[in-house]
Amino acid sequence: MDLNVNGARVQVDADAAMPLLWVLRDLLQLTGTKYGCGVAACGACTVRIDGQAVRSCVVPVGSVAGKAIQTIEALGTPARPHALQVAWIAEQVPQCGYCQSGMLMAAAALLEKKPKPTDADIDEAITNICRCGTYQRVRAAIKRAAGVKT
Ligand code: FES
Ligand code: FES
Repeated sequence: MDLNVNGARVQVDADAAMPLLWVLRDLLQLTGTKYGCGVAACGACTVRIDGQAVRSCVVPVGSVAGKAIQTIEALGTPARPHALQVAWIAEQVPQCGYCQSGMLMAAAALLEKKPKPTDADIDEAITNICRCGTYQRVRAAIKRAAGVKT
């Protein structure tokens, strides 16, 4: 089937029921998106589909054919980082880093919807789990990227 991944058309040989996460990691070698729980509980596998943050471990790939799939690999580049990535570095958010690509993709979707998010907006949108407990720095970095005072 044809997919639109990070702005490019790609063909994958996959059963329509295969989770998108498996396709991204195992067939397309886009391993920035992580596997945590496999049941939509942790957010490590968050990518964007037509701009919305979704948990790719529970999305059958057949349901996203023709939609714009964005993974962490296309959020920014070292030369042109996304504002969130600049803020993430400034706030030194990650510890082990495992949850962070999912956090960033959820945050990117939030800022497109709400460019000046409140604490409540952040709490509602960022339900990802971080076992290292980086939540306060995630919040600070989102606010920094949005130009909102903490
Ligand atoms: S791996 Fe998808 S939500 Fe945890
Ligand atoms: S930085 Fe380690 S799980 Fe979030």
